[in-house]
Amino acid sequence: MSDKAILEINGQKHEFPLIKGSEDEVAIDIKNLRSATNGVITIDPGYKNTGACESAITFLDGEKGILRYRGYSIEELAEKADFLEVAYLLIFGELPTQEQLDQFHSDIKKHSVVDDDIKKIVDAFPRSAHPMGVLSSLTSALTAFNPSSVNVDSEEEMYNAIVRILAKFPVLVAWTMHKKLGLPLDYGDKNLGYVENILKMLFKQPNEEYVQNPILINALDKLLILHADHEQNCSTSTVRIVGSSHAGLFASLSAGISALWGPLHGGANQAVLEMLEAIKADGGDTKKYMGKAKDKDDPFRLMGFGHRVYKNFDPRAKIIKKAADEVLGDLGIEDPILDIAKGLEKEALEDMYFVDRKLYPNVDFYSGIIYRAMGIPTDMFTVMFALGRLPGWIAQWREMRLRKEPIGRPRQVYVGETLRSFKERKDR
Ligand code: CMC
Repeated sequence: MSDKAILEINGQKHEFPLIKGSEDEVAIDIKNLRSATNGVITIDPGYKNTGACESAITFLDGEKGILRYRGYSIEELAEKADFLEVAYLLIFGELPTQEQLDQFHSDIKKHSVVDDDIKKIVDAFPRSAHPMGVLSSLTSALTAFNPSSVNVDSEEEMYNAIVRILAKFPVLVAWTMHKKLGLPLDYGDKNLGYVENILKMLFKQPNEEYVQNPILINALDKLLILHADHEQNCSTSTVRIVGSSHAGLFASLSAGISALWGPLHGGANQAVLEMLEAIKADGGDTKKYMGKAKDKDDPFRLMGFGHRVYKNFDPRAKIIKKAADEVLGDLGIEDPILDIAKGLEKEALEDMYFVDRKLYPNVDFYSGIIYRAMGIPTDMFTVMFALGRLPGWIAQWREMRLRKEPIGRPRQVYVGETLRSFKERKDR
């Protein structure tokens, strides 16, 4: 294959180098396009064909249904690793030795207290506030309480900011849920593993001991691992672009949380459950909703189906489907919502509209079902996604800073009015 691309504009040919990734992905390097062509740019709304960076963190092949973190398959990581190990792998590039992992966990535990004044911010929110809005605000507010985490010029300063957020974020998540449920805002338990501690913070009732359930530990570990990174998606690109202005880590993460909130991205897990509830309330007629999803005059979409990148199957969905069956079986839960979900899945997989457009169930079609079985309120589902995505965002932000990437600043094609004279108010 040639190592360059030739672009002809108005009869003039311009050459651009090709870049090849380690998995043979090819990109046309257009860094010099504007200068070489006297101002021509490319346009690609939604960035469907645009690579924003070179990254060594996550490899994804949407056609083949492959997802790998730092070269390790998601299937193997979900089966053999725990979430903290995966976080370390994503952020620092290699699986930790036992000693490295212990040190990492111990550094995280040192910072696992959140300034008590943050409780006042939590208190100021109405109980009805959406947890993603609360979480995004609290994450941003953390900067005020940890000003040293803004100017991170050395790797050591970066490390300190990273362990701080990995320590404090689960507390913010638990407080967000407890605010909603009217429960006390407590701290975690340093003697527990990272995921066990999260479960205890989320579910401990004030008047009883919390007993760990290995099924829930395993399910949450898996869910968090599956969500931990997904290369340059909407929220991750947001984190990178905000971070590229050298805003601090916490501010960049807060922006990422806002991006994740939307129903076309992380908010899909909440939207899936709400959709299933609505179908149940409407008599459970899945065919009717299949019809609505296919009707171009109806804005309804089958939530939890389709993916921008996976056009074959979502490998995370396969793993999570199995985990959902196990959790529901182990906990002895029979849920009519699950029957509706299974019905929809079966019909969609056999329907030519969905088959032709390569619309398969994605990870969020199943994750909400597990979260519901665990006892997590529906509008907290996307917060749980954020908890899983945290190491991925951190890894991408760190990579962007270490590579000294320039500030993100896309161009546009202006299609507005050309120069015109100001009209006095009386003449308009
Ligand atoms: N239900 C019905 N039709 C759909 C759906 C759906 N869920 N998704 C896509 N389509 C149709 C769409 O109408 C279009 O049809 P046509 O070609 O006739 O105009 C075609 O499929 C292509 O859709 P698109 O919107 O151009 O595809 P996209 O790659 O831009 O969008 C998506 C991907 C995830 C936003 C979209 O599939 C969707 O809205 N899905 C539902 C929301 C969802 O589950 N999101 C979670 C994604 S996984 C979690 C994450 O990583 O964030």
